[in-house]
Amino acid sequence: MLVLFLHVTAVIVALGGSLFVTFTLTPILVDELEAPARVQVSRRVTRRLGVIVLGALALLVFTGILNVLFTGILSSLLLIKLLLVAVVIALATYQYANLGARIWQLSAAGPRPELAPLQKRFRRVGLTVGTLVLVIVYISLLLTRAGAGGWR
Ligand code: HEM
Repeated sequence: MLVLFLHVTAVIVALGGSLFVTFTLTPILVDELEAPARVQVSRRVTRRLGVIVLGALALLVFTGILNVLFTGILSSLLLIKLLLVAVVIALATYQYANLGARIWQLSAAGPRPELAPLQKRFRRVGLTVGTLVLVIVYISLLLTRAGAGGWR
């Protein structure tokens, strides 16, 4: 139960943090701050969020392995889930370790024109990751509720 609690908390932290930044914080920063201040705030937000999201994903994998060991759940649905998890990990790593790191370096000197396309791609990859995580959540609900027949 504790492991499942940590597993689900990690999902909430990763997804909730990303949704908050994308749909609440970023539009407010655009409205309220001039470009230099906005770039300073958003580069720090990106870096902190990267640590939180990648840390939450690592916790998900660790607690997920424990979940499998404790429950003995091994099914084709779990396999599909794990494939999607691998895609999410690859995309989130690209988003933060590559795009995020480049945004961090470029924005050290304040607003620059090269930042806009990077930020656009960062947001697009982030939305893809968020959507995939939601799909994984629903697959996980099926996984625990599908019963003995069907997928399991
Ligand atoms: C992005 C990554 C992941 C997300 C979003 C996610 C999401 C979830 C959620 C929401 C549940 C709860 C379902 C419920 O109680 O009805 C769950 C359960 C479960 N997850 Fe994950 N998970 C992820 C990664 C993993 C990984 C990497 C593994 C295995 C290596 C795994 C194995 C399991 C298992 C076996 C359960 C069932 C546990 C039980 O019923 O006690 N998960 N997952």
